[in-house]
Amino acid sequence: MSGTIVNLGLDLREWLSPARVVLCASALLIARVVLFVYAYIKARRQFPGPPVTNIWKGNLDETMTEDVHDKWRRWHRQYGPIYQTVRWNGLFSRVIYVGDPRLIRKIANENWPKFPAQYAGFRPLSGSALFAQMDQARWKTQRRGLAPAFQPRTVHAQYPALHKYLLQFADTIDRSAAARGRAVDLAQLHVLLTLDFVGEVAFGAELRAVRDGAACRILQIFHAVLPELMKCGLFPLRAKVPVFESTRAMHRAIAELRGMARAAVEDARRAHEDSQEKDCGAEKGKKIFEILAHHVPRRRRRSHGTHDDFCRGHRQLRNPAIHRKLRDELDALLPADCVVPSIEQVSRLPYLRLVIKETLRYNGPGFGTFRYTPADVEIEGVVLPANTTLALWNPQVHRCPNVWGADADTFRPERWMSTQGEGNEKAALPGSYFPFSYGPRKCMGEGLAMLEMSLTLATLFKRYDLELEPGFEMDFQPSFTLCSRNGLPVYARLRK
Ligand code: HEM
Repeated sequence: MSGTIVNLGLDLREWLSPARVVLCASALLIARVVLFVYAYIKARRQFPGPPVTNIWKGNLDETMTEDVHDKWRRWHRQYGPIYQTVRWNGLFSRVIYVGDPRLIRKIANENWPKFPAQYAGFRPLSGSALFAQMDQARWKTQRRGLAPAFQPRTVHAQYPALHKYLLQFADTIDRSAAARGRAVDLAQLHVLLTLDFVGEVAFGAELRAVRDGAACRILQIFHAVLPELMKCGLFPLRAKVPVFESTRAMHRAIAELRGMARAAVEDARRAHEDSQEKDCGAEKGKKIFEILAHHVPRRRRRSHGTHDDFCRGHRQLRNPAIHRKLRDELDALLPADCVVPSIEQVSRLPYLRLVIKETLRYNGPGFGTFRYTPADVEIEGVVLPANTTLALWNPQVHRCPNVWGADADTFRPERWMSTQGEGNEKAALPGSYFPFSYGPRKCMGEGLAMLEMSLTLATLFKRYDLELEPGFEMDFQPSFTLCSRNGLPVYARLRK
């Protein structure tokens, strides 16, 4: 018996000549290519999409043009709710945009995995922060660790910081209103306000962003980083092999930002340790960074940052009827001398809530999430092929006429009004509305973002008469979040 095995081994070694090894390898390679071409053609037939104009970059160039959000919507209407674009992240993969609410709900609720290669392009900025964490077990631990910092009670405890910066925000607009004829860039001011607020509550750092205005270094860094990061997110090799100067500039800017964040976190940690010695760590009224310092182990403390929601105010200004209705509500329910309302006061402004909800539907700043199929999988009767990145993308789903009706492209807060009595809101069809993503991996900062948006809009529309610069049209910039290339220039007048 053992003699037979030895003979077989010798025969095999003789048979495996170099020429035969090369032949086998070539046959395997050809089989792999044939299988790929077969799967590619099959998936292409099953899920149509825009024609591929560049063999290496697939549809990247079309995706990165300025009308990127409209393009997603156009493709959705042209090719159907499940369409594909080609090859953002490697020769043997594809991206399928899933725009069917039934599938979105299921994929997000079941928390399908994220694909490391797809998020590799974001890693220079995000590292292994929560949103780019691919390991499900680690993600769970990280998310649990962060949860105490995002409880509604903790979020509400951040009000004094937001109030302080909203007063500075109003002061900036007051000065622009006093200098008649000078427009204020509300897009930039909103970003600066968010930087100050998040800087203080998440890092315990005073960034002086609103005070410094356009000279704010972090604002400049974000301008340099985010559009390039979007390109790297869509085409991760770009970040790994930085042949373009813009990519190298992005890496330098990120290194600077990381240095600033590290220093702020160290300061916050020291301040926390000092205060612990004094008050034995009572959590009531604490800032988010203090809670994180208490709950999250040292090495893991990182935030994925925030998103600028520049669109606040943009649509309302274009629609006098909505503007008036919002103003009437604010005048009726807030005291005449109120500059920044309280949380309790904004919670009793139903129309303001509808305006924010509709803004997040109409032009939400965060696009969605990427998931992945390691193997063929059937879901709701649709077979999604293996090795596919799935984009659960809201810009097109939020404007789909089949979901929202013929006026899907109209900004109409009233669509959310329920017929079930005043103050009630209509619920969206499950899986059709996800400005903060969906399911167990949805955005942790939703409460914080909603609080900031409500207070900012109430302050803005109660205190000022606002008018867009005549002839202004917003140019969108393809970026990590929805951004304006030319700001949002507005003339403000203090109301009598
Ligand atoms: C209007 C503002 C915001 C929008 C539209 C938004 C939207 C989103 C979206 C779409 C995701 C999913 C990303 C993905 O899966 O790739 C996400 C994740 C996340 N967001 Fe936000 N976000 C906002 C503000 C914030 C703020 C202010 C914070 C915290 C300070 C925050 C913290 C997070 C975290 C930690 C995750 C990762 C959750 C996880 O992977 O488990 N967000 N956000």
